[in-house]
Amino acid sequence: MGDWTEGYYGGELYLATVAGLLTPRLSALEADRIVELLGLGPRDRVLDLGCGSGRHARAMAGSVGWCCGLERWPEPLHRAGAPPPGVAWLRADLRAPPLRDGCFDAAFSWYASLFMWDDEGNERALAAVARLLRPGGRLLVQHANPLSLAREPVATARRALPDGRQVEEASSFDPTTGVDRCARRLVRLDGSLLEGTAQLRYYSETEWEPLARRAGLHLAAVTSTTPPPGGRLGPEAPDLIALLEKP
Ligand SMILES: C[S@@+](CC[C@H](N)C(=O)[O-])C[C@H]1O[C@@H](n2cnc3c(N)ncnc32)[C@H](O)[C@@H]1O
Repeated sequence: MGDWTEGYYGGELYLATVAGLLTPRLSALEADRIVELLGLGPRDRVLDLGCGSGRHARAMAGSVGWCCGLERWPEPLHRAGAPPPGVAWLRADLRAPPLRDGCFDAAFSWYASLFMWDDEGNERALAAVARLLRPGGRLLVQHANPLSLAREPVATARRALPDGRQVEEASSFDPTTGVDRCARRLVRLDGSLLEGTAQLRYYSETEWEPLARRAGLHLAAVTSTTPPPGGRLGPEAPDLIALLEKP
């Protein structure tokens, strides 16, 4: 997979099309869930990986000791504005973070902000993140549930933004590779187009255990924002949340 992330996430295409979906209320609910699942408290130093415009870091300010939102592209951080007390923004590539080993108690990646490369690249990214955790530190990774996508692998949608711009999305999930290709187009009012295609890798529950081990982490649990009955993730679960620990 080539590096498609700047064209897709770095500007108007992604930021304008998700602005109305990722509301402050949803962000606060998700931040509460992250705090709960990671058992975060007022002394914890936390890293928000691929923080975008910082909606989770901002929502958890005050509940944790310190939260660093790490983001590769400048425009999302520009939209994030000034960080509140207890929050900082860091512009960096999560695969080569300019941070000391072991300097975080916990880290999280919400909304598929970790696995954007081929399997080898994804494993290197996870290992780079693992190095930042202290022994006993925790990591939460949330992404789409591949079992759910496999049931309906192709989806298209078209909607209008409040200002009249049109958004067209077409996604196609390949269950054999675990890769979802999401093509997105934004049609501006003057008819000009912005378009890009994301390629996101979603790991299944069974793939997570060896993936975690190779990165030097222990897979503590796999769950979902709607926890599966009986504990095992089925196709009904809306997403997959992996909880990992550094031994
Ligand atoms: C799907 S968005 C999710 C943003 C945020 N976590 C949220 O829930 O709103 C993925 C984010 O990861 C960022 N990103 C992509 N590649 C990155 C990298 N190598 N290092 C750090 N951030 C990256 C993108 O720019 C984008 O803001």
